[in-house]
Amino acid sequence: MIGPRLLVRSLRFGYRDVPGLIVDLDLSVAAGEMVAVRGPSGSGKSTLLYLLGLYLRPDGGSIRLDGQETTSLGDRERSRLRAHRIGFVFQDAGLHPDASLVDNVAEGAFYGGASYGAARARALALMTRYGIAGLAERRAVQVSGGEAQRAALCRALVRDPSLVLADEPTGNLDPENAAAVIEGLRAAADDGAGVVVATHSPAVAEACDRTVLLA
Ligand SMILES: Nc1ncnc2c1ncn2[C@@H]1O[C@H](COP(=O)(O)OP(=O)(O)O)[C@@H](O)[C@H]1O
Ligand SMILES: [Mg+2]
Repeated sequence: MIGPRLLVRSLRFGYRDVPGLIVDLDLSVAAGEMVAVRGPSGSGKSTLLYLLGLYLRPDGGSIRLDGQETTSLGDRERSRLRAHRIGFVFQDAGLHPDASLVDNVAEGAFYGGASYGAARARALALMTRYGIAGLAERRAVQVSGGEAQRAALCRALVRDPSLVLADEPTGNLDPENAAAVIEGLRAAADDGAGVVVATHSPAVAEACDRTVLLA
């Protein structure tokens, strides 16, 4: 039997000024599942994604990624897992403005140890699938917000992560580009990743298998 991509048990986290932000949260995300995280502004959606993305350490509880406990690992090992197993999409694409779109996408694979040629080939394959291969040599400043966000999605997927985390990825997009990004996240899940999306958008939540509500 294959366990879940992500298994969270009794997760607790607070900031100094916001104690008890996340209290005893349980969450399991299987390969192929896409889960929405909803809740009002300030309810801890972004914080939860940073915990799952191993950017923050919880105050208590367990976060298992592909069966491996992450909370007891050192910083180096957590960084390695983050780089190899986790793809993160932020609300703003956050591309290097002067680099070409394909180099932006390839970067993760390149630093992961792939040759430049292999990283570029993988990037182009993803960009073809997500309809932006024709923009490969454009500088990131020369593409629309929706195209940039699709590139950010490709960048997050370039290393075939086990877990894809997206923090309000359609927040700044028109409906058509939002739909493309939702489809892309759904496709990542269908390919076997676990996907967790923080969102205010009913359209995104509808594309998900279920919703976790933060109060
Ligand atoms: N780095 C931080 N230091 C202290 N408090 C923070 C920090 N980041 C977020 N917060 C606070 O934690 C709460 C949850 O924030 P956040 O996770 O960004 O919520 P959401 O994404 O649901 O809007 C808010 O009250 C916010 O002000
Ligand atoms: Mg947020």
